[in-house]
Amino acid sequence: MALFSGILFVFLLPGALSTPILKVSDAQWHTLNTTVGGRLHAATPFSLPCFSKYNNLTVSVDEASCAAIQANYTSPTFRLQSFSANMNVEFETCMSTQSGCLLDTTNPRSLLATDETSCNQGEIPPYYIDVSTASDIQAAFKFSGATGVPLSIKNTGHDYLGRSRRRDSLGLWTHNLQTMNYDAQFVPEQCDSAPRKAITVGAGVTTQQVYEFADANNAIFIGAYAQTVGVSGGWLMGGGHSVLSPSFGLGVDRVLEIKIVTPDGKLRTANACQNADLFWALRGGGGGTFGVVIESTHLVEDRIPIQVINMTFTPTAANLQEYFEILVNTSAKWGAQGWGGHINRVPAGIIYVNPRLSLSEATASMAQLVAFAQANNGTATIETLSSWLPFFTRFIVQVQAPVGNSMVIGSRLMPQALFQTTEGRSRLVAHLLNQTAEFGMPYIPVSTPISFNYTPGTTSVTPAWRNSLWELSSGFVWPYNSTLPQIRAVLGTVHDFVHEQLTALAPDSGAYINEGEVYESNHEYTYWGTNYARLLEIKKKYDPNELLDCWKCVGWKGAAQFPCYPDLAA
Ligand SMILES: Cc1cc2nc3c(=O)[nH]c(=O)nc-3n(C[C@H](O)[C@H](O)[C@H](O)COP(=O)(O)OP(=O)(O)OC[C@H]3O[C@@H](n4cnc5c(N)ncnc54)[C@H](O)[C@@H]3O)c2cc1C
Ligand SMILES: *[C@@H]1O[C@H](CO)[C@@H](O)[C@H](O)[C@H]1NC(C)=O
Ligand SMILES: *[C@@H]1O[C@H](CO)[C@@H](O)[C@H](O)[C@H]1NC(C)=O
Ligand SMILES: *[C@@H]1O[C@H](CO)[C@@H](O)[C@H](O)[C@H]1NC(C)=O
Ligand SMILES: *[C@@H]1O[C@H](CO)[C@@H](O)[C@H](O)[C@H]1NC(C)=O
Ligand SMILES: *[C@@H]1O[C@H](CO)[C@@H](O)[C@H](O)[C@H]1NC(C)=O
Ligand SMILES: *[C@@H]1O[C@H](CO)[C@@H](O)[C@H](O)[C@H]1NC(C)=O
Ligand SMILES: *[C@@H]1O[C@H](CO)[C@@H](O)[C@H](O)[C@H]1NC(C)=O
Ligand SMILES: *[C@@H]1O[C@H](CO)[C@@H](O)[C@H](O)[C@H]1NC(C)=O
Repeated sequence: MALFSGILFVFLLPGALSTPILKVSDAQWHTLNTTVGGRLHAATPFSLPCFSKYNNLTVSVDEASCAAIQANYTSPTFRLQSFSANMNVEFETCMSTQSGCLLDTTNPRSLLATDETSCNQGEIPPYYIDVSTASDIQAAFKFSGATGVPLSIKNTGHDYLGRSRRRDSLGLWTHNLQTMNYDAQFVPEQCDSAPRKAITVGAGVTTQQVYEFADANNAIFIGAYAQTVGVSGGWLMGGGHSVLSPSFGLGVDRVLEIKIVTPDGKLRTANACQNADLFWALRGGGGGTFGVVIESTHLVEDRIPIQVINMTFTPTAANLQEYFEILVNTSAKWGAQGWGGHINRVPAGIIYVNPRLSLSEATASMAQLVAFAQANNGTATIETLSSWLPFFTRFIVQVQAPVGNSMVIGSRLMPQALFQTTEGRSRLVAHLLNQTAEFGMPYIPVSTPISFNYTPGTTSVTPAWRNSLWELSSGFVWPYNSTLPQIRAVLGTVHDFVHEQLTALAPDSGAYINEGEVYESNHEYTYWGTNYARLLEIKKKYDPNELLDCWKCVGWKGAAQFPCYPDLAA
């Protein structure tokens, strides 16, 4: 009893009384804690140390912890260390009830955010297991089945749909699964395929870590455009794009084996030769759906030189159309040549990489764009970097997507066919001009596997990935203290932007689940296309008691289960 008395008050406040977590006695929590070797922890909001009220009750401000949080509020590496932090902070809060605990992102030391304000639990689970073994996960499934307490799985908290949070759930934090192993002769268990160079990582390992580890082994890991995205969690299971994907494929194309505890309680090895249906589902079906991944093994490439172009210019009403025309006219050629990269908002321009061309070929390929930059107060440099890690360190770390604010995105995969007719190109250019006028410069990851030699049927991501050139997107941010109507207005704008403007460009295409729009109308088709029906069968097979559920995931039970997402129609 004494073990939990310090935190129980959280759940005895009015309003929380009907939540399933209350049906659990102290003794049951204690038993769970014992079963998981003392790795059950109570969670409080990330920014609580800065507040003098918690759930309306008086608490003491912790000046030292608060100062560290204020100083590092927008640091992804700092947020990574905390179970309670999300990268997109609205998912720390319960948006619909305006319950949360945020600082002012633009000025984290502002006292306006903390004075007279109660820090509330929001979507942060009251308890979580700091996962260390498969048996921790087995215990969590058993507990959830017995008590009805829902589960949520958090790795790094990057998810743009908020799928790593659920109010009043038992959280499973995979962050501390930190093993890394290089094997020059990896063969998946029970397979007799040729040995390949591969890296196996525990589920908590992030991109920065695996890039350094691969480089130390003379290899390249094909991964995300940020330091702290997880390697084995949502990134992988949702698809996993890289600016090297045009040549080397998506994360799901390169994974060789996954170790996972499925909701039926079994620790399984999934690869092409055993649990092959599950392996297929994990290659695109999305995180948080088929079980809890413990580790994953990925094909790596040899270290190779990479050509890089860094181009910026000053957009004006007079030059934007020419800029978009160059991008649209040339993208099919660039894709075939193996270029990948990002078309950026600020500064306007591109950073593209190419692992296949020589420096002189790269220079010839980019000549028109370089001339454009020079004529428009811009800069353009093309150079050879010795490998991926030096490129990542010098170019990406300074431009990775911001974190620590309330942000959502909307996106659609843009099919190659659109770029191949005069009519399609002019529609796309008109759209880009329109999108820029309404929402600012578009953000476009050019990271589809367009010239990767795909074996059809091996992954469950939407087939739209295979013939698309761009992920056309825009990000939308709102202030920390926005009212519910203000938040709803932004979410509604993003929804309309996607469903009226982007879908008009490519009605039959799809979107990347990890960078999708929160209220996607037809998520089954949009994220998985023709793969959805089989994914649902596999979900039912491995999660027969429906222990895992997340927002717009395969087998999603609907919005009623997730009351923190505002009702846009309200
Ligand atoms: C700054 C930033 C940069 C990004 N850059 C890229 C990029 O370059 N390329 C790209 O493809 N995507 C990118 N993304 C999107 C990214 O792929 C998604 O946010 C993805 O969901 C992150 O997965 P995670 O495991 O790190 O995060 P989390 O938010 O912790 O988890 C995401 C989902 O996976 C589930 N999950 C996590 N771990 C496990 C596990 N061990 N077992 C089962 N389920 C699990 C969670 O329950 C949740 O549903 C970026 C996102 C951000 C915020
Ligand atoms: C679980 O047990 C450990 C070890 O005894 C203890 O430190 C921890 O506080 C317990 N968890 C909770 C939620 O009380
Ligand atoms: C805190 O007080 C406000 C105002 O009285 C109330 O609406 C809210 O429900 C309370 N919050 C909690 C967690 O009890
Ligand atoms: C947080 O910020 C402070 C001040 O900038 C810095 O000294 C400290 O190292 C940071 N802490 C972490 C864990 O990043
Ligand atoms: C792009 O291609 C179109 C033909 O489809 C052509 O009219 C236009 O001049 C080209 N734009 C640029 C900037 O080269
Ligand atoms: C030229 O570019 C610089 C740097 O991007 C910018 O600050 C400046 O305003 C630009 N000048 C003009 C005339 O556009
Ligand atoms: C890319 O170019 C811009 C504009 O010249 C410059 O500010 C930036 O530092 C460059 N990036 C790198 C990594 O050199
Ligand atoms: C952009 O297109 C939408 C319709 O698709 C239209 O309502 C809007 O006015 C256009 N915006 C601009 C700036 O042209
Ligand atoms: C949010 O805070 C800012 C000051 O930081 C203030 O100007 C603004 O009016 C506040 N917005 C709301 C909705 O309270």
